[in-house]
Amino acid sequence: MEPFAPSNQKNDASSVWQHPLAEFAPDGIITMDAKGRIIAFNPAAEKMFGYRSDRVIGCRVSEKLIPAALQTAHTNGLANFLVTGQKKMIGRRVEVTAMRADQSVFAAELAVVSVNHRREPLFIAYIRDITGRKKLEKEREQYAVNIKKTLMQTILAASRIIAIRDPYTASHQRRVAHLAAAIARELNCADERIDGVYLGALIHDIGKIALPHDILSRPGKLLDEDVSYLKIHCRKGYEILAPVNFPWPVAEIALQHHEHVDGTGYPLGLRDGEILLEACIVSVADVVESLTAHRPYRPAFSLEEALAFIRKRSGDWYDRQTVEACGALFEKGYSIDAIDMDELTFMSSFVW
Ligand SMILES: [Fe+2]
Repeated sequence: MEPFAPSNQKNDASSVWQHPLAEFAPDGIITMDAKGRIIAFNPAAEKMFGYRSDRVIGCRVSEKLIPAALQTAHTNGLANFLVTGQKKMIGRRVEVTAMRADQSVFAAELAVVSVNHRREPLFIAYIRDITGRKKLEKEREQYAVNIKKTLMQTILAASRIIAIRDPYTASHQRRVAHLAAAIARELNCADERIDGVYLGALIHDIGKIALPHDILSRPGKLLDEDVSYLKIHCRKGYEILAPVNFPWPVAEIALQHHEHVDGTGYPLGLRDGEILLEACIVSVADVVESLTAHRPYRPAFSLEEALAFIRKRSGDWYDRQTVEACGALFEKGYSIDAIDMDELTFMSSFVW
């Protein structure tokens, strides 16, 4: 039998252990010549691929062990190595798709080393079936996605609870959520962050649940004492949400959405750099939505008036880049009136 790792000296010590090493190795070990023909195939490879070694020795690796769609890439890679010596695959551990005798394919981890044998390059491939590991990884990924979906559904449930007690606030939050997520997208935030903005906005006023019903339902303009009472909703919202270990800063959004970048906001008087971008976005979406909505005690602002308002306050109350993104969004034709109020899912490519 040909040695798996040919030695220049016939009787040196390495030849004693090379053979059992290949015979009993848990990984497949396949030796190939410079033309890509198999010259040795160990028992682990036999088991993995479903071939007896005498059925593959002398055959090309590409014909027997590589799916048809990948054969050309393999042949070109080998040719490229032989001509240029460039080692795209050599010495690295890579994930590949391999093919069994019954033509089924499986994920494998592959490491190839090259050795010179009688002035000809020889390749020794170490190959491991990683089907089980891949399945486990996929299951873990799916589990994480399911947990995230459940957390999202929890937030949506909280939003529906608010709708029962205070339909106005619930509808306002949904409109703010849609606008805020669109601003976050305009700012090129990652999908994960857009989800956080959307979900945080959807319950940013959850703390209003702690307010007496007559303040929430008062038809006219709020009294001064009502306004100072209303201010507690940021902290209350934070207290409700902070104990939940959300992967998004929803509690912080509830706490910070009335902060101003010049420090004149509430409840903490945070300044630029201390306020989360997510809260800055919700803050801008909140004011644009509120101003353009009708109130019993004042007519709705036009969109132009609302945008003029946030631009006037840009850099002192509102974050400049968020104000710019909001303006750009409406210039591109975004319409706050176009929101489907029954739609509770904003399309983030990551989870939904
Ligand atoms: Fe609020």
